[in-house]
Amino acid sequence: MKKLAAGNWKMNGSSAALSEVTALLAAQPAPNCEMLLCPPATLIAPMAVAARGSALRVGGQDCHPEAAGAHTGDISAALLKDAGASHVILGHSERRADHGETDALVAAKAAAALATGLTAIICVGETEAERDSGQTLDVVGRQIAGSLPAGATAGNLVVAYEPVWAIGTGRTPTIPQIAEVHAFIRARLGAAMGAEAPGVRILYGGSVKPSNAAEIFGVAHVDGALVGGASLKAVDFSAIVAALSAAQTGAA
Ligand code: 13P
Repeated sequence: MKKLAAGNWKMNGSSAALSEVTALLAAQPAPNCEMLLCPPATLIAPMAVAARGSALRVGGQDCHPEAAGAHTGDISAALLKDAGASHVILGHSERRADHGETDALVAAKAAAALATGLTAIICVGETEAERDSGQTLDVVGRQIAGSLPAGATAGNLVVAYEPVWAIGTGRTPTIPQIAEVHAFIRARLGAAMGAEAPGVRILYGGSVKPSNAAEIFGVAHVDGALVGGASLKAVDFSAIVAALSAAQTGAA
């Protein structure tokens, strides 16, 4: 399995930020893992042009469940693909919170992504209150059960475990806490997907940075990272890609 270093630029990145892509490709011309950036929709096409012929893939941050139609302000999986995207992040906690996205809606969006040939990166994770009240595995289990589309395979599905309280806070779960949830997700994927489950990449996300990446990548069933803030700067994201490349070499 190729590990995956994915960056989520969220609502950041004007066209001037494409210089970070140039710098990233100079620093990581041939990483030993997969490398993906998901910029705002406005930057997908120019970033795909900048990444052409390189190891960098480009993705979206959301898509509509329908293929086309009267949905002002939305974007379909086909439009993402046409702009040059190969992946799409779905069910990020910020979309679940800001836009009331349910597991059923995330599953419908993921089905649209798969039907279009995009790889779906489905995000799950508990809030701080849910962790404090001992509900972490219940919440993550429910999200996995409800958000996975039919027809998912190791090739078109990635799961990202992102504890909500670790996003943008500088706080991370302990290593045993990460290990517990990732092993749990692997088991639930096994129940849902059978023989495909061992090949599904399970990413950790939430305050990943160069200083903690190597330790997190050493955890069983952590197959990469979904990085927010530290993916905006090539120097930081490149260091995380290097740490994952080293982990890939160690695992080979
Ligand atoms: P940070 O890396 O900024 O904590 O964000 C994580 C995230 O939400 C990635 O999707």
